[in-house]
Amino acid sequence: MIGTGAMVETQVYLLPGVRRIRVVAMLALLAALPAIALAPATAPPDYVGSVACKGCHPDVWLKFYKNPHFQSIASGREPAERTGCEGCHGPGRAHVEGHGDKSKIIAYSQLRPGQILDSCLTCHAAQMPRANIRNSAHTQANVVCTNCHSIHKSNQPKFLLANIQREVCYGCHATVRAQFEMPVKHRVNEGVIQCTDCHNPHGSFAPTWRMGARPRLMEQAMGNEEPCLKCHSDKRGPFVFEHAAVRMDGCETCHNPHGSMNAKLLKRPVVWTLCLECHNGAGNFGRAAMGVPAQSRTHNMFDPRFQRCTTCHVRIHGSNSDPTFLR
Ligand code: HEC
Ligand code: HEC
Ligand code: HEC
Ligand code: HEC
Ligand code: HEC
Ligand code: HEC
Ligand code: HEC
Ligand code: HEC
Ligand code: HEC
Ligand code: HEC
Repeated sequence: MIGTGAMVETQVYLLPGVRRIRVVAMLALLAALPAIALAPATAPPDYVGSVACKGCHPDVWLKFYKNPHFQSIASGREPAERTGCEGCHGPGRAHVEGHGDKSKIIAYSQLRPGQILDSCLTCHAAQMPRANIRNSAHTQANVVCTNCHSIHKSNQPKFLLANIQREVCYGCHATVRAQFEMPVKHRVNEGVIQCTDCHNPHGSFAPTWRMGARPRLMEQAMGNEEPCLKCHSDKRGPFVFEHAAVRMDGCETCHNPHGSMNAKLLKRPVVWTLCLECHNGAGNFGRAAMGVPAQSRTHNMFDPRFQRCTTCHVRIHGSNSDPTFLR
């Protein structure tokens, strides 16, 4: 176990010399001696306070007042083990007295990914209830907080990111950069939208579309729906006549969400090849257990007019007036 965060819940420091009293014991004391309970908490002796770090780590210290973690020093209300430098690096006395002995302080450069995660989550766990962080694809691949956040060297205005958001991600997902350079794309590289409009890098729960398969760290908007609907709200429905492909399989059945060579981010260059992947009458499913209906005999596939399915089936995402999405 690294850090002392885990002790916070169970051990309380009251008076100098009276170290590490169990909470149960303290409650008894509280009842008996309300006056002592009101006295300010005094730091236990292995904590020296953040000012002690200033002399030897001026580079870190001088910028720290801008860090959101400075709050704990400014407020003066947190217990020593949640205050300032020692809130993350643990008690500093032995390190200071050892003239900077690296083995006597929590040095993140020496920690395993799982230990870093635990250390940050001692304070941040409550913030990530929707993220399922311990099961996320990132955590399982040993990608943890410090791969994306930089506590002391962030040059970003928000969230202590190690770099501009997309550059953080491209550092490991280089192929995705190329997808956002395609002729048709969401303008992520231009700064119009961000990866986190669609993804939650901390993790997510299995979504309801696609039977929960392929979650892909998808940010779940409005409860449990696809993040796409936040912006493309006209596709949300519910429609009187739903297109099962949209409702059940999800937008990425027909669209490449990042970028595509094809108009409207479609997966196929000509629309009928996309439709006929399903509408070919094959298989043993669909309404009449006869497969997804093939286009009817009225459709002459040799007539180029019929190849542009969406010139007639204009409400392809769902319709309130026509079961075949003609209007
Ligand atoms: C929120 C947790 C946190 C707090 C608070 C914190 N640090 Fe750090 N510190 C880290 C992490 C994580 C690293 C590893 C480098 C990184 O990811 O930025 C680090 C690295 C360091 C290093 C190694 C050199 C470097 O810049 O990478 C020193 C020295 C250091 N911290 C000192 C301090 C001092 C002094 C304070 C108080 C002014 C402090 N830290 C407050 C988390 C913290
Ligand atoms: C007497 C000077 C001195 C003081 C005071 C001091 N440090 Fe250090 N610290 C050092 C030196 C020197 C190193 C580098 C050790 C090495 O690289 O082997 C170091 C290394 C560290 C590291 C490890 C960085 C890494 O490589 O990941 C951390 C974290 C750190 N100090 C935090 C603190 C904190 C927090 C305080 C205040 C409680 C503090 N230091 C006070 C001298 C000091
Ligand atoms: C794969 C990269 C990545 C990892 C790993 C990661 N973060 Fe983040 N984090 C981000 C990005 C990107 C944002 C900005 C989100 C936004 O712009 O809405 C963010 C935002 C945050 C925020 C502020 C907004 C919020 O969601 O509350 C906190 C706090 C945070 N991260 C803490 C952590 C902690 C703690 C860990 C490790 C347990 C962690 N992050 C791991 C990328 C990451
Ligand atoms: C001692 C408790 C504590 C620990 C440990 C801790 N944090 Fe924080 N963190 C905070 C507090 C308090 C804030 C400010 C919260 C706020 O403003 O809502 C904060 C804010 C943040 C933010 C948001 C910055 C912003 O601009 O909103 C990020 C990102 C973050 N921490 C990352 C980390 C990472 C990464 C670690 C582990 C290296 C870590 N924290 C460890 C208490 C902690
Ligand atoms: C418009 C929404 C959207 C944006 C913006 C977006 N993504 Fe995605 N991303 C998706 C969807 C949807 C999937 C799932 C595709 C699928 O399963 O077919 C996905 C899949 C992925 C995958 C998994 C690829 C695979 O096929 O296994 C990665 C990695 C990824 N995105 C990274 C990123 C990065 C990095 C950014 C920002 C630079 C980003 N995404 C921006 C919607 C988006
Ligand atoms: C330190 C490297 C690293 C960074 C930084 C990083 N990722 Fe990842 N990411 C990975 C690894 C490793 C995986 C798991 C293996 C894989 O699917 O490629 C992954 C997986 C993913 C997936 C697919 C999840 C799944 O279910 O298959 C998405 C989406 C994703 N990352 C988005 C992002 C976004 C958005 C960012 C920036 C906020 C980001 N990543 C930053 C390394 C990273
Ligand atoms: C943050 C808002 C936002 C989110 C989330 C979002 N989009 Fe978009 N989308 C846009 C904007 C803005 C455009 C207009 C294109 C542009 O100029 O960037 C667009 C354009 C499109 C287009 C049409 C492209 C064209 O050529 O006209 C499609 C298709 C599309 N998005 C599908 C999706 C899908 C699928 C998702 C979810 C995976 C999604 N969008 C998520 C904002 C968003
Ligand atoms: C069955 C395949 C299919 C699915 C699933 C699908 N779309 Fe489309 N989408 C299309 C086709 C085909 C077009 C082109 C229509 C045209 O050319 O008139 C299109 C066009 C679009 C456009 C641009 C034109 C417009 O109508 O605004 C957006 C935005 C869009 N889709 C978003 C979405 C979103 C969001 C989802 C998920 C909720 C989704 N699509 C699911 C087939 C699909
Ligand atoms: C991922 C598979 C899939 C794709 C791709 C797809 N569809 Fe569908 N479509 C379905 C399913 C499933 C139904 C519902 C069939 C049922 O109710 O039996 C359906 C229903 C329909 C219906 C209504 C049929 C009826 O009899 O009620 C029309 C019209 C239709 N789709 C046209 C299209 C067009 C045009 C395209 C191409 C832009 C397309 N579909 C792409 C799966 C798909
Ligand atoms: C010229 C206009 C037009 C074009 C182009 C067109 N359709 Fe249709 N489609 C219709 C009309 C009208 C109906 C309803 C009457 C009928 O079944 O012929 C229909 C019905 C359907 C049905 C429902 C059949 C059933 O038995 O319930 C499907 C599926 C379908 N079309 C798919 C497609 C596909 C796939 C394409 C592209 C390859 C396409 N349509 C192109 C006009 C068109």
